[in-house]
Amino acid sequence: MGDKYRFELIGFPIKHSNSPWIHESFFNRSKLQGTYIKNEIPLEDDFAEKIMQMKARDIDGFNITVPYKQTIIPYLDEVDAVAAKIGAVNTVLNRNGIWKGYNTDGSGYLRSLESKFSTFGEDKSIRILILGAGGAARGIFCAFTEEGFTHIDIANRTMARAEEIAKLATDKTTTKILTLEEAEQSINQYDLIIQTTSVGMKPATDQSIISLEHLNTSCIVSDIVYQPLKTNLLTQAEAAGAQIHYGHTMLLYQAQLAFEIWTGELVSTENMDKELQLILE
Ligand code: ATR
Repeated sequence: MGDKYRFELIGFPIKHSNSPWIHESFFNRSKLQGTYIKNEIPLEDDFAEKIMQMKARDIDGFNITVPYKQTIIPYLDEVDAVAAKIGAVNTVLNRNGIWKGYNTDGSGYLRSLESKFSTFGEDKSIRILILGAGGAARGIFCAFTEEGFTHIDIANRTMARAEEIAKLATDKTTTKILTLEEAEQSINQYDLIIQTTSVGMKPATDQSIISLEHLNTSCIVSDIVYQPLKTNLLTQAEAAGAQIHYGHTMLLYQAQLAFEIWTGELVSTENMDKELQLILE
């Protein structure tokens, strides 16, 4: 029997994380052997010491989730160019003691769209609107600009944060900054709307971040919130006749990319979308 891979997840809180389930499924599907365990690091713990212990364990790789995606960077030997641009790392590969950081959040999100909509990505001139300007929006914006999409606008409650993200655009990308009210008024101009804020996590009280009244029915509306699985925004979008894209698929594909970085294997995610949906429901 060959060596077993050893992967971990660090973050806080991570008790309810579905990543171990996803990576165990990948091991089963790929016939590779290994473990993926949670290593919760409470905020009061000595982060540097925890990282030194991980170095000593010489694990093959790990994922990083909130609140440590930026904190981890000084402990790395190398950082991939896109992750450096995003300023956050969610995946680390240990190759002979050299730790290299990557960010698979935005690229995983892009892959989730490509897997759901077969022609997605063929037309790079589609008009995209990102709602929100936090870490998730930053990762998604960078992945789309790197991929060559040419029209990506950003609407956020705090305009300055959206402006910071817009500075990361490549030469090919045109980006407008909008207020949430302006976004609502021009909503019919977009082919893809990506909701990246935390609004929607409390379905009983959260209104949709914007009204979709004037939505173009050929539009795809995507919400990266996955608890609840179907946010009020997605319900509204579906009722308006648009196509919808669920947030949990981002989780699946960022994990598929991380597993590929660690093992070199592109594992099939067939049916996992539905299986994960059942777990989350
Ligand atoms: P993440 O890293 O998960 O994206 P974040 O950096 O805290 O999280 O960003 C949260 C996003 O949700 C931001 O765009 C935030 O808007 P501001 O930049 O104006 O703070 C947005 N957000 C959170 N609560 C909101 C609310 N009630 N209404 C509108 N936007 C909200």
